[in-house]
Amino acid sequence: MNLPNLEEARKRTNKKVTIKKNSYDFQSIYKGKKYFLKTYGCQMNVHDSEEIRKYLELLGFEPTNDLKQADIVVLNTCAIRENAHDKVFGYLGRCKHLKHEKPDLLICIGGCMSQEEKVVEEIKTKHPYVDIVFGTHNIHELPQMILDAQQKQNISVYSIEGDVYENVLYSRDSKISAWVNIMYGCDKFCTYCIVPYTRGKQRSRTLENILDEVKLLKKEGYQEVTLLGQNVNAYGKDLDPQLSFSQLLEEVAKTKISRIRFVTSHPWDFTSEMIDTIAKYDNIMPYIHLPIQSGSNQILRLMGRRYTKEDYLKLFQEIKEKVKGVSITTDIIVGFPNESEQDFLETLDVVRQCQFDGAFTFIYSPREGTPASKIKDNVSLKEKEERLAKLNELVNFYSLQNNKKLEDKVVPVLILGKNEKDATKLYGYTDTMKLVNVCGSSAHIGKIVDVKIKCAKSFSLDGVIE
Ligand code: SAH
Ligand code: SF4
Ligand code: F3S
Repeated sequence: MNLPNLEEARKRTNKKVTIKKNSYDFQSIYKGKKYFLKTYGCQMNVHDSEEIRKYLELLGFEPTNDLKQADIVVLNTCAIRENAHDKVFGYLGRCKHLKHEKPDLLICIGGCMSQEEKVVEEIKTKHPYVDIVFGTHNIHELPQMILDAQQKQNISVYSIEGDVYENVLYSRDSKISAWVNIMYGCDKFCTYCIVPYTRGKQRSRTLENILDEVKLLKKEGYQEVTLLGQNVNAYGKDLDPQLSFSQLLEEVAKTKISRIRFVTSHPWDFTSEMIDTIAKYDNIMPYIHLPIQSGSNQILRLMGRRYTKEDYLKLFQEIKEKVKGVSITTDIIVGFPNESEQDFLETLDVVRQCQFDGAFTFIYSPREGTPASKIKDNVSLKEKEERLAKLNELVNFYSLQNNKKLEDKVVPVLILGKNEKDATKLYGYTDTMKLVNVCGSSAHIGKIVDVKIKCAKSFSLDGVIE
């Protein structure tokens, strides 16, 4: 249950990985009861929620979007930034209130925040009305924890992991596009990041198990898989014998599933072989999320990213040259401790050079237990906010400019469903991962259709089906 310190965390990389098979033998004793599941954070959590939902449904719970209707609430939390903590505890306040009216309500907290020792202490001491706390390594225990739930708080979080679970069942959000975990955890230890602590060391799934899952999804009619990992490029380095992400991608491409995507790529492990594989197969989508974090070598060094601005630009150029029509997005952090105005200007300069299709931008948030949190943060909040605003303006300018290039062009779009706000519209994504809204009928859902782009905005495109 401890958040290990850096040294302990590094040592864990020696622990042997075992593959365990999940088994399911519980009954649906909660028929007629309702669950409310709220997910914070990244795609890993979104996919973990698909597992959580399956367990809730196997126990007989039905979904509700109305917190007040719920008999069980599960918050799948994120720890990446401090404000994630505030959001969750804010929400818990609402749940507590509800529990006054409905004493049988079960309140469960899972996800990355549960892996923080400090958070668990806080729940124990200040939030006794929380019934269940589970972590990222023992989601499979949730059904039993629910069945065992009594008056006492039930907390089970593993700090030392090493297992890979197979035979996991999911209640997937989509029948068209599916997430596929290819690995868990992260060994990169970027100095600002809490993920290696909350998700543990890198553990790759075997090629065989991944391919079996993709083939099954294809058989079930899925058009798209997104291979998931904190750093997919390092896939297979921990397997014996070692395997490369490029080899995995090639094998997945040979299954002939229509669309293959992957997130996230760390520039450090991106090989030329990988770029060649992406370029070679039509079903590997020409879209890469390639976080740069900063354009200043001084800051990149402090962040422990292990590449320079020049390395990044070289890789970026190679990808652009080899993968026809590729779109590239990125992540950027502003206001890292010691980031000078000059460092920030270098970040803007890189954005100008790369003209990213999009970027997720963040103000640096110190996370307790990480090395960066020990560096004195000498950038004022005002400066950080001003930098973020300037950066966003530039990022949005290039997003729009790139999107405008698609106007009057015909592009392939996988239609995923009805637009939530406007029922007459459908939405889908181009091969380059741009959101497109079109008019069309339900018959188009799940199909890859040619769409003529009529109007480009910064974050989406409007088009008509050809
Ligand atoms: N594994 C991915 C990123 C996972 S976290 C990668 O390395 O590319 C998603 C993004 O959150 C990171 O890319 C980073 O930009 C941001 N982030 C992580 N820790 C942060 C922190 N302490 N403060 C602000 N942003 C952070
Ligand atoms: Fe965090 Fe770095 Fe790992 Fe990404 S690669 S999850 S930023 S430690
Ligand atoms: Fe958040 Fe955990 Fe993802 S900290 S970003 S949910 S890996």
